[in-house]
Amino acid sequence: MTKPDEKFHTQITTPAPDMGTGPLPVEPYISAEFFEKEREKIFRRAWLEVARVEELPNPGDYVVRPIEVLKTSILLVRGKDGVVRGFHNVCTHRGMAVAICDKGNAQGFICNFHGWTFDLDGRLKGLPGEEYFANLDRADYGLRPVATDTWNGFIFVHWEPEPKIGLREFLGGMATQLDDYPFARFNHIARYSARVKANWKTFIDAFHEAYHVMMVHRHTVPDACAGQENPYGLLSTARIYGPHHSGSVWVNPNHKPTPSETLAWKYGMSFAPGDMVDLPGLNPDKSANWWFDINVFFPNFFIDVGPGWYFTYNFWPVSVDESTWEMNIYQLDAETAGQKFAQEHTKVLLRDILYEDLSTLEFAQKAMGSGVLKHLPVSEMEIAVRHQLHTVQEWVNRP
Ligand code: FES
Ligand SMILES: [Fe+2]
Repeated sequence: MTKPDEKFHTQITTPAPDMGTGPLPVEPYISAEFFEKEREKIFRRAWLEVARVEELPNPGDYVVRPIEVLKTSILLVRGKDGVVRGFHNVCTHRGMAVAICDKGNAQGFICNFHGWTFDLDGRLKGLPGEEYFANLDRADYGLRPVATDTWNGFIFVHWEPEPKIGLREFLGGMATQLDDYPFARFNHIARYSARVKANWKTFIDAFHEAYHVMMVHRHTVPDACAGQENPYGLLSTARIYGPHHSGSVWVNPNHKPTPSETLAWKYGMSFAPGDMVDLPGLNPDKSANWWFDINVFFPNFFIDVGPGWYFTYNFWPVSVDESTWEMNIYQLDAETAGQKFAQEHTKVLLRDILYEDLSTLEFAQKAMGSGVLKHLPVSEMEIAVRHQLHTVQEWVNRP
């Protein structure tokens, strides 16, 4: 008779592909050739999250998003009809940017080079000296559109003018899980960003497993998601939705709060482990000892949802060994000074935790690039790391 396995395991509650248990190759994290394939086969073929609708509340509001991996800059603008449209921020005359501020409100756009003008829906309205251009039809020289669509207030763009798969279909079960989460009720309270000499997957992989928490975060949340029952920080449950995945972070019921955490939870809701707020889409498997969910939208966007807050990460490749990252934190209205204190506690606790997360990336990337390691042994505790690379390889190998 075999002894029953008494170890803590992550329950995978959706169908999952066979991803094997062997080590992962280092090559995809360091190869410039592989990176070029990722650019073509992943970033030019996936819907990419770029903004929230609250950033453009009124007609004429616009934001500019440089996307280095696509070698372009995207201009998102809300038209007079209320529709948010996306364009390449490129003048169709000789290529100057038509919007030179990163956000604002405009009646239309005037190119700073020779003064061509475009209206909010991208049409070329006028050009100085038009009579000197031979046979130029204005209708041919509108701003080049980018496929743009919105899910639950998140604006996504797609490199292909007519994507084969619509946004909703692409998001699949990942969107269904969060369809009813009330993102629109939350306020943006903080933004953190960084530019790091690390591959985008090295970067992402540090953010969707909790195995590192007891070491990397030993000064901030040392006992938060590992404890007697689950000593190494496995996720409670995980869900795989095609290329996307979602994991519920286990919380240690014996976590010892710091005095400031105790105070934050006395008056409001903090990122530190504490009470549960029941919002649709949270803790989808109703795991016991639940802290928060990490929802990873392939290829590079996270929405982590917890009690009274959610935050997002966008990881943007620059080159094979350089990436940029942006975090946006959102919270419910703070109605009292105590709730405001709890929100400030979240803001600074997350800042400290993120500094810790950023501390490992450049060392790891440099070491992988040295050629010393050929493969990486990855455990059940790092199931999301395995699934991310599995999906990347699948997309890169597509015709
Ligand atoms: S490049 Fe824009 S008007 Fe010439
Ligand atoms: Fe971390």
